[in-house]
Amino acid sequence: MAEAIKETVSNLIGKVTGAGEPAPREPSAEEFQQLQKKYTDAGQGHVFAFVEELSTVEKSILFHQLNNFDPARINDLANTALHPPKTEQTTVTVEPLPEAATASIIDSDPADVQKWYDLGLKEVSANKVAVVLMAGGQGTRLGSSAPKGCFDIGLLSQKSLFQLQAERIIRLQELAKKAHGVEKPIIPWYVMTSGPTRKPTEDFFRKHSYFGLEEKNVFIFEQGVLPCISNDGKIMLEAKGKVAVAPDGNGGIYQGLVTSGAREDMRTRGIQHIHIFGVDNCLVKVADPVLIGFSASKDVDIATKVVRKRNATESVGLIIQKNGKPDVVEYSEIDKETAEAKDPKQPDVLKFRAANIVNHYYSFRFLESIENWVHKLPHHVARKKIACVNPENGEAVKPEKPNGIKLEQFIFDVFPMTPLDKFASLEVRREDEFSPLKNARGTGEDDPDTSRADILKQGQRWVEAAGAVVITDGEAFGVEVSPLISYAGENLEFLSGREIKAPAILEKEE
Ligand code: UD1
Repeated sequence: MAEAIKETVSNLIGKVTGAGEPAPREPSAEEFQQLQKKYTDAGQGHVFAFVEELSTVEKSILFHQLNNFDPARINDLANTALHPPKTEQTTVTVEPLPEAATASIIDSDPADVQKWYDLGLKEVSANKVAVVLMAGGQGTRLGSSAPKGCFDIGLLSQKSLFQLQAERIIRLQELAKKAHGVEKPIIPWYVMTSGPTRKPTEDFFRKHSYFGLEEKNVFIFEQGVLPCISNDGKIMLEAKGKVAVAPDGNGGIYQGLVTSGAREDMRTRGIQHIHIFGVDNCLVKVADPVLIGFSASKDVDIATKVVRKRNATESVGLIIQKNGKPDVVEYSEIDKETAEAKDPKQPDVLKFRAANIVNHYYSFRFLESIENWVHKLPHHVARKKIACVNPENGEAVKPEKPNGIKLEQFIFDVFPMTPLDKFASLEVRREDEFSPLKNARGTGEDDPDTSRADILKQGQRWVEAAGAVVITDGEAFGVEVSPLISYAGENLEFLSGREIKAPAILEKEE
C-alpha cells in the first residue's frame, strides 16, 4: 500500500518554479520526447503546442511541471469526476447521527464539559496535541490576493487571523503549564498552504516573528495541485509554457501531511490528537481542550464540531449518517422536505441541524492509516471561469462563463470510511465558535465586519461575565480581549466592578 500512495502522490502533486528560485535542470532531448509521447498518447499532446516559442528555461519549467503529472491518470480522474460510476444501491437513507455519537455543549451537564476540558488540557500539557490549519485558500472573494490568514478584519489591534490563532496557542500552552506544572508544553502548528499562498504565508510569519511562537514548532507545508480541465476534457494552459493548475481541495490535506513530512514530525513528537480547521473562522478555539477531551474520552478516530443550522435555507453542509455511515451532505444536495423537517423530539428545531464548520478532530492512530484509503477519496468537480490560452492559436482567453473544471477532494469524504462507533460530533455555540470570513466587506454576511463584530461581542460577554460594566453607544460596542490574556473568557476577574467604555481593547502589557 505504501507503494500505491507514493505513486499517487508523485503523479498528482505538481510544483512550478517561482520567481527567485533557481532555474530547473534542463531535460535531455530524449527525456523531453518521452514526456511528449506520454501526453500525446493520452490525447493531451496540445500542452506542447507552443514549445518552439519557449526559451530554454521556459521549456525546462514546462517539462518539470508536466513531469509531475501522469496524463492518463488525470484523464481518469476527470472522467470519473464528470461521469461518476452509478452506485448499485438505489435507496439512500439519510438520518441525523445516532444520539450515542453526539453531544452538545449547549445542553450537556457542565460537569461533563469540565471533565472533557480537564482531560484535553492534560493531553496538551503532555505534548500530545497538534493543530493543523488549512490555509490553502486565497482571499480572492475578499478582494485580496494575499492568503486569507493575513487578512486584517478591522480589529482595534489590527491583528490578522493568523495572529489570533497563534496567540490562542500561546495562551493555551500557558494554561496547560499552570494546570499541570509542566515546564514548557508545546502545541506544534502545521500550516497547510497551496502554491499561491505558501511564499506569502512564510514571509508573513517571518515578518511577524512567528507571532511569539518558536519557529521550530511551526511547520508550513504545501498541498498538491491538479491541472484545470477544459469542458472537453483537455488539460488547460495558463500560458504558452505553463499548465493552469489549482489546489486539490481541502481533502488534499491527507496527502499533504504525508508528503510534506508533517505526519512524520507528529510521530517523532509523540502527537496523539490533532485538531484540524479552516483559516477563515476568527472565533476558532485552536486545540480546544474540550474537543480533545471529548474525543479522547470517547476513543473516537474522528470527531467534528457542529453549530446549529440557523434555518432551513442556510448554505452550510450538514453532518448526518447516510446508509448508516457518517457523512456530510452539502446544502446543494439536500431536498427542501429534508431541509425543512423538524425534530420529532423538539418540534421547534430542525431535524437536520448539525452544520459542518470544518473543525475536526483526528486521532493520530487514524492518520497512520492514510495510505489505506487516500486513493479512494473521490474528486469533485468545481466549474470555474479559468483564464487560459487557446491551444489552437495562442490567444489569451478571459472567459465570461465557466469554461473548465477544477478537481477537488473534500476533507470530509473520509467520514463514510469511519465506523459510526469511531465517529462523534460535538455541538458548540455559534456565537462562541463560528464566524467565517467568506465575503468582501459590505456584504453584511460572513464578511470582515461580521467577523470583527463577533470578536468584539464575545469579548464584551466575557468581561461582563467577569463583573465589568461595558458602556455602549450605538455603533460603539464590544471589547477586544487579547487571546494572550484569555483563551475562552478565563482570567478576567481583575475587571470585576470596572467600567469599560466600548469599543475597548484589552492587550497584554509587555
Ligand atoms: C466548507 C465545507 C462545508 C461547510 C462550510 C462552512 C468542505 C469541503 N466544505 O465549505 O461543508 O458547510 O465550509 O463554512 O469542507 N482549503 C484549503 N485548500 C483548498 C481548498 C480549501 O486549504 O484547496 C481550506 C480553505 O482555506 C478553508 C477551508 O479549507 O479554510 C474550507 O474550504 P472552503 O473552500 O472555504 O469551503 P466552503 O465552500 O466554505
